[in-house]
Amino acid sequence: MMNLMTGLSGMGIHLGGWRHRDSYDTTCMDLENTINTAKIAERGKFDMLFLADGNAVRQMDKPALFAANSPSDRPAVFEPVTLLSAVAMHTSRIGLLATATTTYEEPYLLARKFASLDHLSKGRACWNVVTTSYPGDALNFSLTEHVARETRYERAREFLDVCKGLWDSWADDAFVQNKDTGQYLDPTRVHTLHHKGKHFTIKGPLNVARMPQGYPVMFMAGQSEPGRDLAAYGADCVFAVTNTKKEGQAFYADIKGRMGKYGRHPDHLKIMPGASVYVGRTASEAEEFYEELQSLISPQVGVPYLSKLCEMDLTPFPLDGPMPDLSGETNAIASFRNSIAEMATRDKLTIRQTYERVLPSMGHVTFKGSTKQVCDEIEDWYTSKACDGFNISVPTVPRGLETVVELVIPELQRRGLFHEDYTGKTLRENMGLPVPTNPHFPPWREAAK
Ligand SMILES: Cc1cc2nc3c(=O)[nH]c(=O)nc-3n(C[C@H](O)[C@H](O)[C@H](O)COP(=O)(O)O)c2cc1C
Repeated sequence: MMNLMTGLSGMGIHLGGWRHRDSYDTTCMDLENTINTAKIAERGKFDMLFLADGNAVRQMDKPALFAANSPSDRPAVFEPVTLLSAVAMHTSRIGLLATATTTYEEPYLLARKFASLDHLSKGRACWNVVTTSYPGDALNFSLTEHVARETRYERAREFLDVCKGLWDSWADDAFVQNKDTGQYLDPTRVHTLHHKGKHFTIKGPLNVARMPQGYPVMFMAGQSEPGRDLAAYGADCVFAVTNTKKEGQAFYADIKGRMGKYGRHPDHLKIMPGASVYVGRTASEAEEFYEELQSLISPQVGVPYLSKLCEMDLTPFPLDGPMPDLSGETNAIASFRNSIAEMATRDKLTIRQTYERVLPSMGHVTFKGSTKQVCDEIEDWYTSKACDGFNISVPTVPRGLETVVELVIPELQRRGLFHEDYTGKTLRENMGLPVPTNPHFPPWREAAK
């Protein structure tokens, strides 16, 4: 069965999505609308809700784009773990995926937050482990520039090891809470970490009991060499940026092929490319909706938006001239830039044509058409081993998501590609991911007790 997740942003992926007449009137700090979105996704049996995140207000140097609020820039949003804790109280089965950075967070605090979310949600926590894409975040953490990629990934690996060590602090049954004997906890059922590494010195143990899932589901998004390697080492899921089935197949084979050296089985990591879905009862209904949204975006906003994704100022270049060379190095999200460069070269696109292509999906692949056409594409990618499922983005909320739930999900279920209902209690069980063993209290020793 494939896995599906969707974003929890109230805005939709299309830059003009929030302006559509059917979209929420308010999305800024709006808990009620967020909970409504979560309930729609849970009705559609999505495995997970996804919250991307950053720690800076972006694009203040691009006034038109700043004012229009690109969906990935989020000038005013809730902190993800806090928001998902609230959403957990209004949902019961869907996974809750919060983005948090290993570059600026502290492992003890973050391990504690995710362990708490997993307890609060009864085993539905998922962590999108990012090393931070936006260089400007550095300025909010007492630095003058973005940390170099190699250093970010080096710290990330140690950060993950520390978190896992902290999550292994307690045996499942450590807290006996025996009112008769007066014993609250069993002192033989705790392990103190004593970690000393290049980036962190952390004693432990964690002051949260072992969480229902052992560890939260670990999600990653980096696609550079060190990013892929970290995913093969420690991710349960990867958010891929692949614009064609062929790119998807290459990425899929590459990541799964790297897992052996870490002693991992390829089925224990799910590859989930982003895909934007524009679906209608007929192909022309989908096309009409798409064109309506495209018409909301002028070049004054479209060009800075593309500049942001490519990390290159495109405003001095002629709008209807070719895309300039994008082959230089970047310290942020290389995958978006590479993918856009490849598309523009392959299809000989002008700057205007490139931003028009990128607008609907923010650099991910777009599936547009009737229910059959969209489901055929999804099925084809999945059965061709280009992915294990998708992170489905919708152009507007709530309409775009409701349409996917009404049209696409039932068709995928009818084809036997997607589950009819949640089958497990925790997110790991629902996604078919293994539950990590606590090395200090392994099952064989537990059984012999
Ligand atoms: C699809 C995708 C989504 C990402 N989401 C976030 C995010 O929400 N917040 C963030 O700070 N970084 C995010 N990142 C950045 C990555 O964690 C990483 O720092 C960046 O991509 C650079 O690594 P790479 O060159 O290995 O891709 C994302 C990257 C990709 C490819």
